[in-house]
Amino acid sequence: SFLEMEVEQINKGKYDHYMQKEIHEQPESLTTTMRGRLIRGGSCKAKTVLLGGLKDHIKTIRRSRRIVFIGCGTSYNAALAARPIIEELSGVPVTMEIASDLVDRQGPIYREDTAVFVSQSGETADTLLALEYALENGALCVGITNTVGSAIARNTHCGIHINAGCEIGVASTKAYTSQIVVMAMLALAIGDDAISSQARREAIIDGLFDLPNKVREALKLDQEMKDLAKLLIAEQSLLVFGRGYNFATALEGALKVKEVSLMHSEGILAGEMKHGPLALVDENLPIIVIATRDACFSKQQSVIQQLHARKGRLIVMCSKGDAASVCPGESCRVIEVPQVEDCLQPVVNIIPLQLLAYHLTVLRGHNVDQPRNLAKSVTTQ
Ligand code: G6P
Repeated sequence: SFLEMEVEQINKGKYDHYMQKEIHEQPESLTTTMRGRLIRGGSCKAKTVLLGGLKDHIKTIRRSRRIVFIGCGTSYNAALAARPIIEELSGVPVTMEIASDLVDRQGPIYREDTAVFVSQSGETADTLLALEYALENGALCVGITNTVGSAIARNTHCGIHINAGCEIGVASTKAYTSQIVVMAMLALAIGDDAISSQARREAIIDGLFDLPNKVREALKLDQEMKDLAKLLIAEQSLLVFGRGYNFATALEGALKVKEVSLMHSEGILAGEMKHGPLALVDENLPIIVIATRDACFSKQQSVIQQLHARKGRLIVMCSKGDAASVCPGESCRVIEVPQVEDCLQPVVNIIPLQLLAYHLTVLRGHNVDQPRNLAKSVTTQ
């Protein structure tokens, strides 16, 4: 109706679509996610994390034999992005489960496990079934959801609210970055405060405080991503290569592109390049390589060289100022992003890929907020 259309326009504000609005409001949604949870300064404890919903369970999680992350779609990717920092700070082995696959296999879940359920809606049927299964098996169940009072929030033993604000676009954007931040805070909360890791912990906390600014800076790539989208508008396929902290960015970037723009896209673990994907490389297929600064940087430089040697059409994402050191030739395009603490880099790196997916979709004339065949909340199996 006319009234509904008016209300929708008011909700979208100055934006054309919810997805666009939600991409651009990430500096604010990230701030809300962290509000009251990060403590800097003060007399005794210099820098710490407070997660109220977990306070009675932190010790149990720290002592658990394994942490299992369980989710679907973008929520799974967010957990994958946080996995390395959880392992590093807690020393507890972390395994990943796609909710439906865990249920299909009836995979082993034990009483000594902490099972973490990640879900924007808190209502995804597959994730809920996996939760029932983990509860039956006696694991400590932790919920990370964006919906207060949702089934996953209610049925887990404890949890953390994402607090990203209501997300309307079917493709998850601001919930993804807030989920990663929640799990980085979880890593800080369950990690021991050994002297040896103190500097690292403080660097991450400082990095979190500054993250909304860095995301704001990355959002300035909007026009550049629109130009890139124009260049890619008629392509059949797009590959995204990442590794380490940014393996998740490759999967999530490709998921955004395929689910909204309806272009085939695949996220590839760069370490697997030689075991198949290299056969696809030619002078036509566009390939995004994520090569921002971290411990994997030199390995990614060599991946770029090898793709270039096979005449790959390269688009390289690198840290600001690194364009010259990552670009193998003139034909290579660059996306320069602000550098942050390595474990938080996935939050910045996904921004240009969200923008690319958005612009590709609008240019190709598809429905951005409600892609065909997809639903915001999949409550059936
Ligand atoms: C659907 C949505 C995705 C979402 C996934 C998991 O497929 O379209 O955007 O990532 O469900 O949803 P959840 O609410 O559990 O995070």
